[in-house]
Amino acid sequence: MRATLFLAPMDGLTHVAFRRLVAHYGPPDFFYTEMVSARAIVHQPPERDPYLFYTEADRPLIAQLAGREPEVIVQALERLEARFDFYGYDLNFGCARGRAKRYGWGAALLSEPELARKIAAGGRKMTRKPLFAKLRSTPGHDLRRLIAFAEGLLAEGVEILILHPRAPEDGFRRPPRWEEIAALKRETGATVIGNGDIFSPEDVLRMLETTGCDGVMIGRTALLRPWIFRDARAFLKGDPIPEAPNPFEPVLLMAEHLKLLPEEWREKRFNLWLFWYLQNFPFGLYYFGRVQKALGISEKLAVLKDLLYREKIPPYPARIRQNR
Ligand SMILES: Cc1cc2nc3c(=O)[nH]c(=O)nc-3n(C[C@H](O)[C@H](O)[C@H](O)COP(=O)(O)O)c2cc1C
Repeated sequence: MRATLFLAPMDGLTHVAFRRLVAHYGPPDFFYTEMVSARAIVHQPPERDPYLFYTEADRPLIAQLAGREPEVIVQALERLEARFDFYGYDLNFGCARGRAKRYGWGAALLSEPELARKIAAGGRKMTRKPLFAKLRSTPGHDLRRLIAFAEGLLAEGVEILILHPRAPEDGFRRPPRWEEIAALKRETGATVIGNGDIFSPEDVLRMLETTGCDGVMIGRTALLRPWIFRDARAFLKGDPIPEAPNPFEPVLLMAEHLKLLPEEWREKRFNLWLFWYLQNFPFGLYYFGRVQKALGISEKLAVLKDLLYREKIPPYPARIRQNR
């Protein structure tokens, strides 16, 4: 079976260095930037914004915009269109945490369907490129409301919907309701990409078969196993799943790719990723504590080399031991 695979946008994590790491092992069909503030794009020179850096290896790349003022989002798109070569743009109606929660971006807009439509309409006027909308379940899992919201966006020219079927109040504690992906596909007839709790190549097939979605987006498991896209593709073709790399290898590659980012970003971004990557191992959270005490990337690498030399990446499914 052939499926379209997406790397999910993840704040602080899906920057150019991480995407290069994913590309090294086997790229998805589409990469995503992390969410980028539309306001920041409008008020700062976007060419120098590390959130927008990319290379030839981490493409096709979709830029995800976050914001709530239609005119600011339109201006941001105009600037991106003039200066970069993104494959398409995504409007974030899904993020319920951090900056999105504070500023009323992302999932907060699920309760403001008219404003969301204005954002979509403005976006559609500004670009002829594919326009994606990333959604999550509405508060209380009100499916009718979700479908009406999605139909409003489609009417304004959004072409592809991504659904992570957890409501804002669910956090990661409750399982995603994949049946809402099936319902969104059935009711809207739009192109729908399913997302949520893909922990193995087998899960990709199960999501495709049980929901009828057109493609699958993977987030956290790609942080633990940046080679998940290679493995999912092999599995869907009926080939054996390739062997996982030596656990220290991705760490070294990541340290190398981080040089694509400004120096003052590197160590923090390394830490953010290690918090997830080290969860592959039963004592990963303890390892993470040890690494955090080391100062500087080269000292951290020395600690990691020592900690990981006797480890092996466990078989699928990837186990997320702690969410952040
Ligand atoms: C650390 C973290 C950061 C995230 N940042 C974003 C973001 O910037 N934009 C967005 O639309 N979703 C964001 N998400 C949600 C993911 O894109 C995805 O929908 C969610 O993790 C479920 O997919 P998964 O089960 O494959 O991880 C984030 C998730 C995590 C764990």
